[in-house]
Amino acid sequence: MPQGIAILGSTGSIGRNALRVIEALGPEYRVVALSAHRNVELLAQQTRRYKPKLVAVTNRDSAAEFRAMMDGEVPMLSGPDCLTGLVQCDQVDTVLTAVVGAAGLPSVMAAAETGKRLAVANKEPLVIAGELLTRAVREHGSTLLPIDSEHSAVFQALQSGRSSEVQRILLTGSGGPFRGATVEDLQEVTLKQALSHPTWNMGPKITIDSATLMNKALEIIEARWLFDVPVEKIEVLIHPESIVHSLVEFVDGSVIAQLGEPDMCLPIQYALTYPRRVAGVSKRLRLEEIGALHFERPDPQTFRALPLAYEVARAGGTAAAAFNAANETAVEEFLAGRIKFLQIMELVEHCLNRHDIRQITCLDELLEADAWARKEVKKRLLIFDC
Ligand SMILES: NC(=O)c1ccc[n+]([C@@H]2O[C@H](COP(=O)([O-])OP(=O)(O)OC[C@H]3O[C@@H](n4cnc5c(N)ncnc54)[C@H](OP(=O)(O)O)[C@@H]3O)[C@@H](O)[C@H]2O)c1
Repeated sequence: MPQGIAILGSTGSIGRNALRVIEALGPEYRVVALSAHRNVELLAQQTRRYKPKLVAVTNRDSAAEFRAMMDGEVPMLSGPDCLTGLVQCDQVDTVLTAVVGAAGLPSVMAAAETGKRLAVANKEPLVIAGELLTRAVREHGSTLLPIDSEHSAVFQALQSGRSSEVQRILLTGSGGPFRGATVEDLQEVTLKQALSHPTWNMGPKITIDSATLMNKALEIIEARWLFDVPVEKIEVLIHPESIVHSLVEFVDGSVIAQLGEPDMCLPIQYALTYPRRVAGVSKRLRLEEIGALHFERPDPQTFRALPLAYEVARAGGTAAAAFNAANETAVEEFLAGRIKFLQIMELVEHCLNRHDIRQITCLDELLEADAWARKEVKKRLLIFDC
């Protein structure tokens, strides 16, 4: 029987790459469920091409549009919570989560409770609810496989030793479009400059996160939960070529790295075929064409997200939910042209300073902290406007 795959967020950058990968993998893999939020034109094209058994549209207005467009061609779920139903579909063996932001949290949690294979690109739920999610995965016998290229690299490198033998995890990052800049240089940067990532082609939110290095900050917390290591063992290394996707140093001093072209198809494919490796669509790495690889330390003074990530990870509880939600809201404001680039991290830091961190027992407490931080950012912006 082919492996049945549900792609949550099939209209996004990861979702579209995942469809390319599955198509290239051939008949052993089958798309059985797809979801979109607003881009129903693309979802309709995908539905006609891949013939899923079920689709979902999370935005209600777009769902009505899709229904009218497809005229009953495919069974459909709709509304903000419908992805939790999609992951339970009998024919789904693997849930690939490619929704952006905390909006993906309920569906990732529901998928973790199914006992199915979970290929996770949507990092924010792991950041916010890593403890609850990894517990659900253990209790329900699900398998969690990372798609984020850094975490896929770490996952692969970890197969060279035991977890007790890990000295350090080194997460690499290109440094984004503002590598080497000072706070002064960043005062007047434009949206267009912030969206011009030097090596990766991704959705708008993660591209801005890569410019502030918030993406790396989220990845530190993501790695802490995925690999169950203390955050002190996780370090960031700036590597502008984006060829070495991350490294693990073991206690004997050996450093194991995974290398490849900056192309998300490779980690997506590995999460689907693991533990097997098969030929795929990714471009082959030719190191002789790359020439030199460079590494440098990040600048925590200019890129405040990095030291904040360690503080948040150490604090635990609701801290990461507030950290992430403040960032999502500030990035939306920046993408809409309503705030300056440097205000993103100012707003995040403001929220963290005001947040009353609570220890957690359930998802609702995290959702409360998330809602509080979104409101706090809006409140702060109203004060600026007055
Ligand atoms: N892009 C990359 O290379 C990359 C690499 C590593 C990790 N990631 C992670 O993967 C996730 C997806 O990133 P992306 O770059 O693919 O984002 P993207 O291009 O913006 O796509 C986001 C997807 O989520 C859907 N969506 C948006 N809001 C939603 C909501 N409220 N409820 C349900 N679905 C919603 C979108 O639907 P519509 O388009 O139909 O509105 C789209 O399918 C993020 O968590 C990101 O951090 C991405």
